[in-house]
Amino acid sequence: MILVTGGTGTLGRAVVTGLRAAGHTPRVLSRRGDTRGDLRTGAGLPAALAGVETVVHCATSLRRHDLTHAANLVDAARGAGRPHVVFASIVGVDTIPLPYYRTKLAVERMLASSGLPWTVLRATQFHDLVLRLFTLQRWSPALLLPAGTRFQPVDVRDVAARLIELAAGGPAGRVPDFGGPEVRRLRDLARAYTRRPLLPIPLPGKVIRGYRTGANLAEKAGTITFEQYLEDQR
Ligand SMILES: NC(=O)c1ccc[n+]([C@@H]2O[C@H](COP(=O)([O-])OP(=O)(O)OC[C@H]3O[C@@H](n4cnc5c(N)ncnc54)[C@H](OP(=O)(O)O)[C@@H]3O)[C@@H](O)[C@H]2O)c1
Repeated sequence: MILVTGGTGTLGRAVVTGLRAAGHTPRVLSRRGDTRGDLRTGAGLPAALAGVETVVHCATSLRRHDLTHAANLVDAARGAGRPHVVFASIVGVDTIPLPYYRTKLAVERMLASSGLPWTVLRATQFHDLVLRLFTLQRWSPALLLPAGTRFQPVDVRDVAARLIELAAGGPAGRVPDFGGPEVRRLRDLARAYTRRPLLPIPLPGKVIRGYRTGANLAEKAGTITFEQYLEDQR
């Protein structure tokens, strides 16, 4: 049995779809999924993990609860059949000083020392995230962009396929980072989305420097480009 945490989210949904297409009947854990559970409190986790051999951990909270989530998951997994936990992390969590990234790095470390069989896949930014950056400014006459940044956005269907492959294999520790098929300037991605004027803003700070120096980039692995993703959204 495979359990997908966050199976109602952007990545989790793609993992669940991919698993179903491959003939599995995964359990979908979330606060509103088929299998109800709250990773923040631990409620419902023992039942969700009963008989589970592999967990694909995609749940996340932007409110920095991810370490609590992972600790509760690990505790419940230790009390169940000690399943293989496959964790979706982000490229650059160890170099770009965002609070959310620090938490993800802490989760990676906690998992590695948990005694459970584990695999960590770091992926680059999802196409969905880049698009959200643009759609948030849909009423603005111009698109404001951090100047000089490059991204390698990846489609969640590609990331999901890799996670499913990893879930089918044994514990592999940290595996090579997974990126989209193209490294693009943010302004070029924005141009694929809109004809409105683009306004690059030179922003200071270590976080933006991280994106400028390519700490968010990886091996090219996915196949679906940003333009193909946009086309699929229409
Ligand atoms: N976005 C990116 O560009 C990117 C890039 C690389 C890696 N990642 C990583 O990929 C993973 C998935 O990201 P995503 O964008 O798919 O996230 P998302 O769309 O925000 O989905 C979050 C999921 O977590 C679940 N969740 C939140 N709090 C929960 C709780 N207390 N108990 C149980 N479930 C809870 C939500 O389900 P309910 O609301 O139904 O409970 C939802 O299914 C994350 O670890 C993220 O860091 C993201």
